[in-house]
Amino acid sequence: MMRTTAKLWIYLLMMTAIIACLPQKNERKKLKSVHVIPQPAELSQSSGTFVLNQTTQWVTQNEVTASLVKFFSKKLKESTGFDLKTTKNEPSSNFISLNINTSMPGGKEAYALSVTKDFIYISGGSEQGVFYGLQTLLQLLPPDIESPKVVNKTGWNVPVIEIKDHPRFKWRGMHLDVCRHFVPVENIKKHLDMMAMFKLNTFHWHLTEDQAWRIEIKKYPKLTEVGAIRTEGEGHEYSGFYTQEDIKEIVDYAAERFITVVPEIELPGHALAALAAYPEYSCTGGPFEVRNVWGVEPDVYCAGNDETFQFLEDVINEVVALFPSPYFHIGGDECPKQRWEKCRQCQQRMRQEGLKDEHELQSYFIKRIEKVLVAHEKKMIGWDEILEGGLAESAAVMSWRGEDGGIEAASQGHDVVMTPGNWCYLDHYQGDYRVEPVAIGGYTTLEESYNYEPVPSELGEEKAHHVLGTQGNVWTEYMYTPELVEYRVYPRLIALAEVNWTQKEKKDYNSFVNRLDRIFPRLDLYDINYHIPLPEGPVNKLVFIDNARVEFSNTRNYPMVYTTDGSEPNKESDLYKDALIFANNKTIKIATLLPHGKLSKVRSIELVKTQKISAKDPVTSKEGLAEQYADTTFVSVAGIDKVNEWKERDGAVENRGANYRETDYKQPSSHLFTGYLNIEEDGIYEFQTNLDQFYLAGRLLIDNDGEVKRFSRNNSTIALAKGKHPVKLVYLNNIIGGWPQAWNGPKVQFRKLGDKQFTQVTNEMYSF
Ligand code: ACM
Ligand code: ZN
Repeated sequence: MMRTTAKLWIYLLMMTAIIACLPQKNERKKLKSVHVIPQPAELSQSSGTFVLNQTTQWVTQNEVTASLVKFFSKKLKESTGFDLKTTKNEPSSNFISLNINTSMPGGKEAYALSVTKDFIYISGGSEQGVFYGLQTLLQLLPPDIESPKVVNKTGWNVPVIEIKDHPRFKWRGMHLDVCRHFVPVENIKKHLDMMAMFKLNTFHWHLTEDQAWRIEIKKYPKLTEVGAIRTEGEGHEYSGFYTQEDIKEIVDYAAERFITVVPEIELPGHALAALAAYPEYSCTGGPFEVRNVWGVEPDVYCAGNDETFQFLEDVINEVVALFPSPYFHIGGDECPKQRWEKCRQCQQRMRQEGLKDEHELQSYFIKRIEKVLVAHEKKMIGWDEILEGGLAESAAVMSWRGEDGGIEAASQGHDVVMTPGNWCYLDHYQGDYRVEPVAIGGYTTLEESYNYEPVPSELGEEKAHHVLGTQGNVWTEYMYTPELVEYRVYPRLIALAEVNWTQKEKKDYNSFVNRLDRIFPRLDLYDINYHIPLPEGPVNKLVFIDNARVEFSNTRNYPMVYTTDGSEPNKESDLYKDALIFANNKTIKIATLLPHGKLSKVRSIELVKTQKISAKDPVTSKEGLAEQYADTTFVSVAGIDKVNEWKERDGAVENRGANYRETDYKQPSSHLFTGYLNIEEDGIYEFQTNLDQFYLAGRLLIDNDGEVKRFSRNNSTIALAKGKHPVKLVYLNNIIGGWPQAWNGPKVQFRKLGDKQFTQVTNEMYSF
C-alpha cells in the first residue's frame, strides 16, 4: 500500500478539482514549458512553482534506501550547494517525499510525480521507479542543476505538475564495443550518466573481439598481456584493458543508476585476440597476431577440441562472478566456417554428434556454452546468427541483420532485442560523408532512429511481448577517440531512449527535437561532444569562372551563421538565408547555430576564381596508365622517396579494387600511375578519391596523405576544357586507422558541378 498522509489526500482532492477546471488555452500558454525526455505517459501542468532551497527536506520511509537519497543529495549539492536534510516525519511544507508503492500500475519502473507549490511527492513501483521520478524532477529543474560546480541562482524552480509514467519496454539499452577502440572507465561513466538521465537500463559491454581482449581473466593472464595489445598498420602499439577492479567499479556505478551491465564474450568467432594469446584453442594452432584491420577474421575457436570448451567455461566462470546481470551475451555473429571445414577435430565432432554441416556445428557450440550459463543461472543472449543450425532452448536473440532474425526467434517463442542496422547502428553516418569524420558507412539520421518501431508488424499480438526492447549499437572501428564515440552516440541514443520508454501513441518527432534542443545545455554540462549537424553543400575548395553560387543546408534545418572576412563566425554573425553569390575570391566560414547559442564546428570554404584549364592533347597509344610499383609501403607519401628501384608495367587502374583479394593488404605495395585523363566536355568538375594523392592538370587536386581513406573526405573542384589532361595517382597499399587500402583499391570518381551522381573514372578514360 502506498503510504498516504491526510495531507496528500487533501492535495489529491485539490488536484482533481484543478484538473476538472483545467485552464483555458490562452491561460495554458502562460505556463512555463517543460521539456522531459523521454516523453512521460501522462503529464498535466498547472500554474505556480515549487522552489527548492537550503531548507527543503527529503521525507523517506524505510523502503527507500539511504543510498538513493544520498545519491540525489550529492547530485543536488554539487549544483545548488544545498545540504538537504532527511526526515521521516512530514514537515508542513517544503519537502520532497519519496515512497514505494509495489502495486503501482506500470510495474517496478513506473513512478508518479506530483509537484505542488508546497511539496513534491514521488512514488515508484520500486526504488528504480523512484529513481526515474527523481530523474524527471531533475529535468523539471533548470539545466544548471546538472552543473558540476555550485551555481548561485535565485530560483531552483520546479513547475507545478502531475506526471504518471512507466516504460514501454524492459530492455532499454546501449551497446559499446571497447575492443576496436578502448573507452576508459571515466568515459564509460559519462555514458552511464547519460543513460540514467534518459531512463535507459541496460549497458551491453562488448569486451572481446578479433582486434582486442579487454577484460582481465586471472586464470588466463595472456588474454590481456597479449590479447589487449595490437600493433597497428601504422606501426605503433594500441592497448588498454579493464582490470577486474575496473569492471567492479563500472558495474557498481551502473547499479547506482539502475543500469544492468550485460557482458559480451564473443564466440565462436571474433576471437582472434584470445587465439593470439592461446593459439591451442584454434583449429590450426596458429601462431596469430591480434588483428589490426577491421572486418571478420577467418580463424575462430576450434569446435572439435574439448579443451577449447574448458577454456571458455573457465572464462565464463570468472565473468559471471563480476556481473550480476541475469543475461550473458555470447556474441555468436559472423563466424566464418572455413577453418572448421578443414579441421580434423571439427569434422570428427560433426560425425560423432551427427551434425550435417558447419552451421549445425555452430549450433552445437552455442548449445554447449548455453549449458555452462544455465548452470550459473544466467540467460544466454546472442546475435541473430545463433539461429543457424537450430536455436538453443533458453536463448534470447539480438536481431541486427535487419528484423528477420528477431521475427523468427520471437515466432519460436524466444525473447528478442531488436537492433536492426538501419535505425540502431550508431556507427553510421549522420550527415554528408564529405564533411563528417570518417565513419563505417550507412546513413542514419536522428529522425530515422527516432522513428524505429521495435515491434515488427509481422509479429501478432500474442508474440509481441517477446520484444524486450531496443538499443543503440556502438561499434568503434572509426571512433578513434572517446570524443568521437560521443559524437556518434548523441543525440541518436536519446532518440532511441524515447523509442524504448515512451508509449507509441505519445511519440512525436517534432516535439522530441523541440525538447531535445532544450536538453542540450544539460549535455554541455557533462561535456558531451554530441553531434551538431554541419553545414553541407559545397566542398572545401570551389572554383568558379564568372560567379560562385553556394548553397548550404544541414540535416536538421537549424539556422547557420557565416562570415566572409576570414574571421571565425559567432552567434551574432550573418544568418545564412539564401544562396550566396560572389564574383571574386572569398573564404566563407560557416557554422550551424543551435537555439541555445552553441555552434557546430566551423566549415571553411575557399572560393577561387579561375579559368578553364586547356587540354594537352598529346598523342597516346595505350589505354590505362603507366604504372611504377614497389613491394613496400609507407604511412606517408613522403616515404616513397626511399624507393630505390621502381618496377614498371602497363597499369589498369579500373577494377583494381574488385580484383584485390581480402588478404592483399598483407602484401604491402606502393604505386605511381601516370598518363592522361580524357574529359568529354568543358566544365567544372568535382573529383573524389581514396588515393593518397591525385594530381590533375599539373596540380595536386586531392591530398589524402596519412588519412583514413575509407571514404573520400577531401573532394575538390577544377575547371577543365574538353580533351586530355595529365594525371598522376599515388596509391599506397597500406593500413591506416585499421582500414586497408587494398579493400577498395585505387578509385577515382567525378561529377560535373550540379550533377547528383558521381561517375567512376574507367580505364578507357585514361591513356598513356
Ligand atoms: C554485428 O554487428 N556484427 C553484430
Ligand atoms: Zn577445429
